[in-house]
Amino acid sequence: MNMILLGAPGAGKGTQAAIICDKLKIPTISTGNIIRAALKSGTELGRKAKSYMDAGQLVPDEVVIGIIRERLQEKDCENGFILDGFPRTIPQAEALDAMGITIDTVVDIEVSDEEIIRRLSGRRVCEACGATYHVEFQPPKVEGQCDACAGALVQRKDDHTATVRERLNVYHEQTEPLKGYYAKQGKLHEVPGEGDIAEITRLTLAAIGA
Ligand code: AP5
Ligand code: MG
Ligand code: ZN
Repeated sequence: MNMILLGAPGAGKGTQAAIICDKLKIPTISTGNIIRAALKSGTELGRKAKSYMDAGQLVPDEVVIGIIRERLQEKDCENGFILDGFPRTIPQAEALDAMGITIDTVVDIEVSDEEIIRRLSGRRVCEACGATYHVEFQPPKVEGQCDACAGALVQRKDDHTATVRERLNVYHEQTEPLKGYYAKQGKLHEVPGEGDIAEITRLTLAAIGA
């Protein structure tokens, strides 16, 4: 199963990807996570991406397309994968099609802008393993500490309110048109993304027939 999770920043792509990849035993590929890891280890890619990311802008297409091209060639993608945060522009989707990789299904997680702002301002991320929490909706057992690995929970720089608004603008302008792109290919499934996380997983799995 080669699938794409679409949705605004904070729609819950990462949250659902983590649950589904565990269930279907296929890897999640998150361009956001790959770029953040590069930033942390101070690579060339990280340096190139930092200013865009911190401002809530997209990293240039050729950079992320290169990342995905390499990543999808790795052995663990043979039996399928979940793309979280890629593609994000029409040229990225076209590049993916041009790689000769067949995407079976696309799930778009629908969440309102107001809810997005509430979610992202409360999100906390484990510095060590990347697990996500929310101070109100999904708190860790011990405040400020990851349930899975006891790492410290921090706030992402681009989760401050002004930057979240910019990310939403970018989403509506550049990423939302992908819904039409995949609807035309007959692959788009829309799932309501507000409410119980387990229920959203159930609807997503039902949509993809898993
Ligand atoms: P990326 O890391 O992909 O960020 P994003 O799309 O802005 O997505 P988020 O991770 O914020 O949202 P999510 O949908 O994964 O939500 P989550 O599950 O965490 O990208 C960051 C940056 O990298 C971009 O801005 C860009 O600069 C660059 N980049 C990445 N990919 C790129 C590309 N392809 N091209 C160009 N540039 C690229 O959930 C959010 C919060 O809500 C959490 O706190 C969670 O606990 C909570 N939550 C989840 N579900 C629910 C629910 N049902 N009810 C209540 N709370 C919930
Ligand atoms: Mg994410
Ligand atoms: Zn952790």
